[in-house]
Amino acid sequence: MQKLNDSILVGDTLTTLKKVPDNTFDVGVTSPPYNKQENKKGWLVKNVVYDTARDTKTEEEYQENQIAVLNELFRTTKAGGSFFYNHKTRWERGVMLHPISWLAKTDWTIRQEIIWDRGIAANIRGWRFWQVEERIYWLYKPKGDKKIGEELESRHALLTSVWRMPPERNNTHPAPFPLTLPTRCIYSILGSTKGKLVVDPYLGHGTTAVAAALLGHHFFGIDISPQYVKEAKQRVKNKDKERAIVETEMAKHKVTMTFKERKEKGKFVGKHRVAKKKT
Ligand SMILES: C[S@@+](CC[C@H](N)C(=O)[O-])C[C@H]1O[C@@H](n2cnc3c(N)ncnc32)[C@H](O)[C@@H]1O
Repeated sequence: MQKLNDSILVGDTLTTLKKVPDNTFDVGVTSPPYNKQENKKGWLVKNVVYDTARDTKTEEEYQENQIAVLNELFRTTKAGGSFFYNHKTRWERGVMLHPISWLAKTDWTIRQEIIWDRGIAANIRGWRFWQVEERIYWLYKPKGDKKIGEELESRHALLTSVWRMPPERNNTHPAPFPLTLPTRCIYSILGSTKGKLVVDPYLGHGTTAVAAALLGHHFFGIDISPQYVKEAKQRVKNKDKERAIVETEMAKHKVTMTFKERKEKGKFVGKHRVAKKKT
Protein backbone atom coordinates (compact mmCIF):
# COMPACT_ATOMS: atom_id res chain seq x y z
CA MET A 1 0.00 0.00 0.00
CA GLN A 2 1.29 3.48 -0.90
CA LYS A 3 1.85 6.08 1.83
CA LEU A 4 -1.27 6.83 3.87
CA ASN A 5 -0.56 10.24 5.40
CA ASP A 6 -2.27 13.02 3.45
CA SER A 7 -3.42 10.72 0.62
CA ILE A 8 -6.76 10.66 -1.15
CA LEU A 9 -7.34 7.55 -3.24
CA VAL A 10 -9.81 6.77 -6.00
CA GLY A 11 -11.33 3.35 -5.31
CA ASP A 12 -14.01 1.24 -3.69
CA THR A 13 -14.05 1.76 0.09
CA LEU A 14 -14.14 -1.90 1.15
CA THR A 15 -11.50 -3.08 -1.35
CA THR A 16 -9.16 -0.20 -0.45
CA LEU A 17 -9.55 -0.53 3.33
CA LYS A 18 -8.62 -4.22 3.11
CA LYS A 19 -5.10 -3.14 2.04
CA VAL A 20 -4.60 -0.88 5.10
CA PRO A 21 -2.56 -2.34 7.99
CA ASP A 22 -4.17 -2.97 11.42
CA ASN A 23 -4.23 -0.15 14.01
CA THR A 24 -3.47 2.70 11.60
CA PHE A 25 -6.03 5.47 12.23
CA ASP A 26 -6.61 7.62 15.32
CA VAL A 27 -10.05 9.04 14.45
CA GLY A 28 -12.50 8.77 11.57
CA VAL A 29 -15.57 10.62 10.34
CA THR A 30 -17.82 9.68 7.46
CA SER A 31 -21.19 9.91 5.79
CA PRO A 32 -21.69 6.87 3.55
CA PRO A 33 -24.16 6.68 0.68
CA TYR A 34 -27.61 6.08 2.27
CA ASN A 35 -28.98 3.59 -0.29
CA LYS A 36 -31.84 5.92 -1.12
CA GLN A 37 -32.40 4.27 -4.51
CA GLU A 38 -31.83 7.70 -6.15
CA ASN A 39 -35.56 8.37 -6.04
CA LYS A 40 -36.04 9.88 -2.61
CA LYS A 41 -36.33 13.51 -3.54
CA GLY A 42 -38.24 15.72 -1.15
CA TRP A 43 -40.12 18.90 -1.82
CA LEU A 44 -37.16 20.99 -0.77
CA VAL A 45 -34.19 18.96 -1.97
CA LYS A 46 -33.03 17.42 -5.25
CA ASN A 47 -32.38 13.71 -5.71
CA VAL A 48 -28.95 12.72 -4.45
CA VAL A 49 -27.20 11.14 -7.44
CA TYR A 50 -23.43 10.64 -7.34
CA ASP A 51 -21.44 10.90 -10.56
CA THR A 52 -19.87 7.41 -10.33
CA ALA A 53 -21.43 5.25 -7.58
CA ARG A 54 -25.01 4.02 -7.87
CA ASP A 55 -27.01 4.15 -4.63
CA THR A 56 -29.38 1.34 -5.55
CA LYS A 57 -28.41 -1.82 -3.64
CA THR A 58 -31.02 -4.09 -2.08
CA GLU A 59 -31.29 -3.15 1.61
CA GLU A 60 -29.83 -6.53 2.59
CA GLU A 61 -26.78 -6.08 0.34
CA TYR A 62 -26.38 -2.50 1.58
CA GLN A 63 -26.38 -3.43 5.26
CA GLU A 64 -23.98 -6.35 4.67
CA ASN A 65 -21.60 -4.00 2.85
CA GLN A 66 -21.80 -1.37 5.62
CA ILE A 67 -21.08 -4.01 8.31
CA ALA A 68 -18.03 -5.19 6.34
CA VAL A 69 -16.79 -1.59 5.88
CA LEU A 70 -17.33 -0.76 9.57
CA ASN A 71 -15.45 -3.90 10.64
CA GLU A 72 -12.53 -2.97 8.37
CA LEU A 73 -12.55 0.49 9.96
CA PHE A 74 -12.51 -1.16 13.42
CA ARG A 75 -9.51 -3.29 12.43
CA THR A 76 -7.59 -0.34 10.98
CA THR A 77 -8.34 2.03 13.89
CA LYS A 78 -6.00 2.04 16.90
CA ALA A 79 -7.31 0.73 20.23
CA GLY A 80 -8.77 3.72 22.07
CA GLY A 81 -9.71 5.32 18.72
CA SER A 82 -13.09 6.72 17.72
CA PHE A 83 -15.14 6.78 14.53
CA PHE A 84 -18.11 9.09 13.83
CA TYR A 85 -20.68 7.58 11.44
CA ASN A 86 -23.34 9.94 10.05
CA HIS A 87 -26.58 8.31 8.92
CA LYS A 88 -30.32 8.71 9.27
CA THR A 89 -33.53 6.77 9.82
CA ARG A 90 -35.22 5.86 6.51
CA TRP A 91 -38.49 4.20 5.56
CA GLU A 92 -39.09 1.64 2.84
CA ARG A 93 -42.75 0.94 2.11
CA GLY A 94 -43.69 2.23 5.55
CA VAL A 95 -41.12 0.08 7.41
CA MET A 96 -38.52 2.00 9.38
CA LEU A 97 -34.87 1.21 8.65
CA HIS A 98 -32.75 2.24 11.62
CA PRO A 99 -28.92 2.38 11.46
CA ILE A 100 -28.73 0.57 14.81
CA SER A 101 -29.87 -2.63 13.00
CA TRP A 102 -26.48 -2.96 11.31
CA LEU A 103 -24.29 -0.99 13.74
CA ALA A 104 -25.16 -3.46 16.53
CA LYS A 105 -23.77 -6.29 14.34
CA THR A 106 -20.30 -4.68 13.99
CA ASP A 107 -17.24 -5.01 16.24
CA TRP A 108 -17.57 -1.42 17.51
CA THR A 109 -18.79 -0.27 20.92
CA ILE A 110 -21.56 2.25 20.25
CA ARG A 111 -20.60 5.07 22.54
CA GLN A 112 -23.34 7.57 21.73
CA GLU A 113 -26.14 8.45 19.34
CA ILE A 114 -25.94 12.17 18.57
CA ILE A 115 -28.83 14.02 16.96
CA TRP A 116 -27.75 16.32 14.13
CA ASP A 117 -30.47 18.97 13.90
CA ARG A 118 -30.13 20.32 10.35
CA GLY A 119 -33.00 22.72 10.96
CA ILE A 120 -34.55 22.00 7.57
CA ALA A 121 -36.66 19.11 6.32
CA ALA A 122 -36.10 17.45 2.95
CA ASN A 123 -39.73 16.42 2.68
CA ILE A 124 -42.60 18.52 3.95
CA ARG A 125 -45.43 16.05 3.35
CA GLY A 126 -47.38 15.18 6.49
CA TRP A 127 -46.97 11.40 6.57
CA ARG A 128 -44.68 12.04 9.51
CA PHE A 129 -43.50 15.07 11.49
CA TRP A 130 -40.95 16.81 9.23
CA GLN A 131 -37.66 15.01 9.57
CA VAL A 132 -35.10 17.73 10.28
CA GLU A 133 -32.51 15.48 11.93
CA GLU A 134 -29.87 12.98 11.01
CA ARG A 135 -27.84 10.86 13.42
CA ILE A 136 -24.14 10.68 14.20
CA TYR A 137 -22.96 7.48 15.88
CA TRP A 138 -19.86 7.82 18.01
CA LEU A 139 -18.20 4.41 17.73
CA TYR A 140 -15.34 3.40 20.00
CA LYS A 141 -12.61 0.73 19.86
CA PRO A 142 -11.93 -0.32 23.47
CA LYS A 143 -8.38 -0.23 24.83
CA GLY A 144 -7.36 -2.81 27.44
CA ASP A 145 -10.08 -3.13 30.05
CA LYS A 146 -11.28 0.44 29.40
CA LYS A 147 -14.55 -0.49 27.68
CA ILE A 148 -15.78 3.09 27.39
CA GLY A 149 -12.44 4.91 27.27
CA GLU A 150 -11.47 8.27 28.69
CA GLU A 151 -13.86 11.09 29.61
CA LEU A 152 -14.18 14.01 27.19
CA GLU A 153 -12.85 17.33 28.45
CA SER A 154 -15.74 19.49 29.76
CA ARG A 155 -15.25 22.10 27.01
CA HIS A 156 -16.24 19.44 24.45
CA ALA A 157 -18.82 17.50 26.48
CA LEU A 158 -20.87 20.61 27.21
CA LEU A 159 -21.73 20.85 23.51
CA THR A 160 -24.40 18.20 24.31
CA SER A 161 -25.81 15.33 22.28
CA VAL A 162 -27.87 17.59 19.98
CA TRP A 163 -25.77 19.35 17.33
CA ARG A 164 -27.49 22.23 15.58
CA MET A 165 -25.67 22.73 12.30
CA PRO A 166 -27.31 23.84 9.04
CA PRO A 167 -26.53 21.73 5.97
CA GLU A 168 -23.76 22.79 3.59
CA ARG A 169 -24.96 24.97 0.74
CA ASN A 170 -21.82 26.29 -0.99
CA ASN A 171 -20.70 23.04 -2.54
CA THR A 172 -21.25 21.34 -5.89
CA HIS A 173 -21.14 17.80 -4.41
CA PRO A 174 -24.68 16.32 -4.11
CA ALA A 175 -24.46 15.42 -0.39
CA PRO A 176 -21.64 17.14 1.54
CA PHE A 177 -21.75 17.68 5.28
CA PRO A 178 -20.84 21.10 6.74
CA LEU A 179 -17.20 21.65 7.73
CA THR A 180 -18.27 22.27 11.34
CA LEU A 181 -19.36 18.63 11.64
CA PRO A 182 -16.02 16.80 11.17
CA THR A 183 -14.30 19.70 12.97
CA ARG A 184 -16.41 19.08 16.09
CA CYS A 185 -15.79 15.33 15.96
CA ILE A 186 -12.03 15.54 15.47
CA TYR A 187 -11.41 18.44 17.86
CA SER A 188 -13.50 16.86 20.64
CA ILE A 189 -11.44 13.67 20.52
CA LEU A 190 -7.95 14.98 19.74
CA GLY A 191 -8.15 18.42 21.42
CA SER A 192 -4.96 20.40 21.04
CA THR A 193 -2.71 17.47 20.07
CA LYS A 194 -1.41 17.56 16.49
CA GLY A 195 -0.14 15.14 13.86
CA LYS A 196 -2.69 12.30 14.27
CA LEU A 197 -4.17 10.39 11.30
CA VAL A 198 -7.84 10.98 10.44
CA VAL A 199 -9.73 8.76 7.96
CA ASP A 200 -12.85 9.33 5.86
CA PRO A 201 -13.65 6.26 3.73
CA TYR A 202 -16.34 8.09 1.68
CA LEU A 203 -14.53 11.41 1.35
CA GLY A 204 -16.72 13.12 -1.27
CA HIS A 205 -15.59 16.72 -1.58
CA GLY A 206 -12.93 16.34 1.11
CA THR A 207 -14.71 18.04 4.03
CA THR A 208 -13.13 15.72 6.64
CA ALA A 209 -9.67 16.15 5.08
CA VAL A 210 -9.99 19.96 5.22
CA ALA A 211 -11.05 19.82 8.89
CA ALA A 212 -8.19 17.43 9.77
CA ALA A 213 -5.58 19.53 7.94
CA LEU A 214 -6.76 22.81 9.49
CA LEU A 215 -6.64 21.20 12.94
CA GLY A 216 -3.02 20.14 12.31
CA HIS A 217 -3.58 16.44 11.52
CA HIS A 218 -2.89 14.08 8.61
CA PHE A 219 -5.77 12.67 6.60
CA PHE A 220 -6.51 9.60 4.53
CA GLY A 221 -9.55 9.57 2.23
CA ILE A 222 -11.20 7.26 -0.30
CA ASP A 223 -13.88 7.98 -2.89
CA ILE A 224 -14.93 6.05 -5.96
CA SER A 225 -15.36 9.21 -8.05
CA PRO A 226 -12.19 10.47 -9.81
CA GLN A 227 -13.86 13.88 -10.20
CA TYR A 228 -14.74 14.25 -6.47
CA VAL A 229 -11.21 13.16 -5.54
CA LYS A 230 -9.70 15.74 -7.90
CA GLU A 231 -11.92 18.46 -6.39
CA ALA A 232 -11.22 17.29 -2.82
CA LYS A 233 -7.46 17.54 -3.42
CA GLN A 234 -7.90 21.07 -4.77
CA ARG A 235 -10.06 21.99 -1.76
CA VAL A 236 -7.38 20.76 0.65
CA LYS A 237 -4.80 22.89 -1.21
CA ASN A 238 -7.04 25.94 -0.72
CA LYS A 239 -7.91 25.04 2.87
CA ASP A 240 -6.93 28.42 4.30
CA LYS A 241 -10.03 29.95 2.71
CA GLU A 242 -12.09 27.82 5.15
CA ARG A 243 -9.97 28.37 8.25
CA ALA A 244 -12.46 30.84 9.78
CA ILE A 245 -15.20 28.16 9.84
CA VAL A 246 -12.95 25.77 11.76
CA GLU A 247 -11.88 28.52 14.18
CA THR A 248 -15.51 29.53 14.81
CA GLU A 249 -16.33 25.93 15.73
CA MET A 250 -13.23 25.64 17.97
CA ALA A 251 -14.26 28.81 19.83
CA LYS A 252 -17.47 27.06 20.89
CA HIS A 253 -15.44 24.48 22.84
CA LYS A 254 -14.98 26.49 25.99
CA VAL A 255 -16.14 26.41 29.57
CA THR A 256 -17.46 29.84 30.54
CA MET A 257 -18.32 28.80 34.08
CA THR A 258 -17.25 25.60 35.87
CA PHE A 259 -19.85 23.38 37.56
CA LYS A 260 -18.58 24.59 40.95
CA GLU A 261 -18.93 28.26 39.95
CA ARG A 262 -22.44 27.65 38.61
CA LYS A 263 -23.43 26.01 41.89
CA GLU A 264 -21.93 28.86 43.95
CA LYS A 265 -23.76 31.46 41.87
CA GLY A 266 -27.08 29.58 42.17
CA LYS A 267 -27.23 28.91 38.40
CA PHE A 268 -28.93 25.86 36.90
CA VAL A 269 -26.74 22.79 37.41
CA GLY A 270 -28.98 20.15 35.95
CA LYS A 271 -31.27 19.29 38.87
CA HIS A 272 -34.92 20.22 39.00
CA ARG A 273 -35.66 21.35 42.52
CA VAL A 274 -39.26 20.78 43.48
CA ALA A 275 -40.53 23.61 45.66
CA LYS A 276 -41.68 22.42 49.08
CA LYS A 277 -45.40 22.74 49.67
CA LYS A 278 -46.33 25.35 52.27
CA THR A 279 -48.31 23.73 55.08
C1 LIG B 1 -22.57 11.28 1.37
S1 LIG B 1 -21.27 11.39 0.24
C2 LIG B 1 -19.93 11.96 1.27
C3 LIG B 1 -19.82 13.45 1.26
C4 LIG B 1 -18.70 13.99 2.14
N1 LIG B 1 -18.97 13.79 3.56
C5 LIG B 1 -18.51 15.49 1.90
O1 LIG B 1 -18.66 16.29 2.83
O2 LIG B 1 -18.26 15.84 0.72
C6 LIG B 1 -20.85 9.74 -0.08
C7 LIG B 1 -19.69 9.57 -1.05
O3 LIG B 1 -19.43 8.17 -1.17
C8 LIG B 1 -18.91 7.91 -2.46
N2 LIG B 1 -19.11 6.47 -2.68
C9 LIG B 1 -20.26 5.80 -2.89
N3 LIG B 1 -20.03 4.47 -2.99
C10 LIG B 1 -18.70 4.29 -2.84
C11 LIG B 1 -17.85 3.15 -2.81
N4 LIG B 1 -18.31 1.90 -2.98
N5 LIG B 1 -16.53 3.34 -2.58
C12 LIG B 1 -16.02 4.59 -2.41
N6 LIG B 1 -16.78 5.72 -2.43
C13 LIG B 1 -18.10 5.56 -2.63
C14 LIG B 1 -19.71 8.84 -3.37
O4 LIG B 1 -19.02 9.10 -4.57
C15 LIG B 1 -19.90 10.07 -2.47
O5 LIG B 1 -18.95 11.07 -2.77
